Amino acid sequence: MTLPAADSPFLRACRRQPVPYTPVWYMRQAGRSLPEYRALRAGMAILDACSTPDLIAEITLQPVRRYHVDAAILFSDIVVPLRAIGVGVEIKPGIGPVVDKPIRSAHDLTQLRMLEPGDVPYVTEAVRNLTAELGGTPLIGFAGGPFTLASYLVDGGPSKNFEATKSLMYSEPQAWHELMTRLADITIGFLQVQAAAGASAVQVFDSWVGTLSLEDYRRAVLPHSKRIFEAMAGAGVPRIHFGVGTGELLGVMGEAGADVVGVDWRVSLDEAARRVEPGKALQGNLDPAILLAPWEVIEPRTLEVLERGRTGEGHIFNLGHGVLPQTDPDVLARLTELVHAAPVPSS
Ligand code: CP3
Repeated sequence: MTLPAADSPFLRACRRQPVPYTPVWYMRQAGRSLPEYRALRAGMAILDACSTPDLIAEITLQPVRRYHVDAAILFSDIVVPLRAIGVGVEIKPGIGPVVDKPIRSAHDLTQLRMLEPGDVPYVTEAVRNLTAELGGTPLIGFAGGPFTLASYLVDGGPSKNFEATKSLMYSEPQAWHELMTRLADITIGFLQVQAAAGASAVQVFDSWVGTLSLEDYRRAVLPHSKRIFEAMAGAGVPRIHFGVGTGELLGVMGEAGADVVGVDWRVSLDEAARRVEPGKALQGNLDPAILLAPWEVIEPRTLEVLERGRTGEGHIFNLGHGVLPQTDPDVLARLTELVHAAPVPSS
């Protein structure tokens, strides 16, 4: 008999309860490095795959079968809810999201309306089918954080320095807050759809927010992140908050109100535990590029992450960012075994 998802090591670790072993999943585990994913997706645009329930379910399950990870993450993308409300956005292979008409002023904001469940019926259907099929393995729903969504909408595509985004943020604070309010509403709507359909946890990927100083984060983003986590409190599922290069922001990201703070590889987990306020679990943080090195390098680095993770109140093992496309799937399978076999503090 499978255990109910509520007692799974992943959800127990999110709640900072004792676990039989350290739970593990990988950001961007669905897709990317899996040959069975490439075969299934051949000739199809990723955003079309993201709106086809059977494909969403199958791609979500592939890494669970292969790696025996402790959680599945829904196959979708942070721009799916934007496209669902009519924003002209595409994901260009090897590039990322590209927007037809970038947002540059308050006038452009009216296109960003609230997301209703009826805008993403394929997500509801896929999550429902998946929670039935996954049995005791929890399903993580996700959405983009408001700064990261804004970075694609305002700069128009992937950006190194976020010039247009930051320029709007610095020069038109009122339009900026209006933009962040609308994006936070869309994020809340997308997370609520997934939680209502049966997702066991939700993660907000504010991937690029590490480009901001602490003070700018506080002023320009924190109120909106807080509102997202407050709105999701009633859903009764653990909330995870992640960004890249956020070492200086870990404390304030804790304040935003999630149950779990994701940490990239730049700050060790014992240091992260000092920076994040008490009462939070941590998720992370092996450098994904280490998986391209020989196993003799990977193994001790993994054990070190686990060792440092034990100093926190709860630890979910993950990479510090997404799986790199060239990663050998067999290495991820072996890594999962290694994490599961490592000792955990006795309860
Ligand atoms: O984690 C998972 O496996 C679930 C699926 C998932 C995808 N995107 C599918 C996808 C998740 C969680 C995302 C989130 C996402 N999308 C983020 C936040 C996470 C992060 O990595 O920081 C961001 C910034 C995006 C926007 C986006 N979509 C980018 C930058 C890219 C990469 C473009 C490229 O080709 O390198 C995408 C495309 C994308 N989304 C792919 C996948 C599996 C790869 C392209 C493909 O399979 O065609």
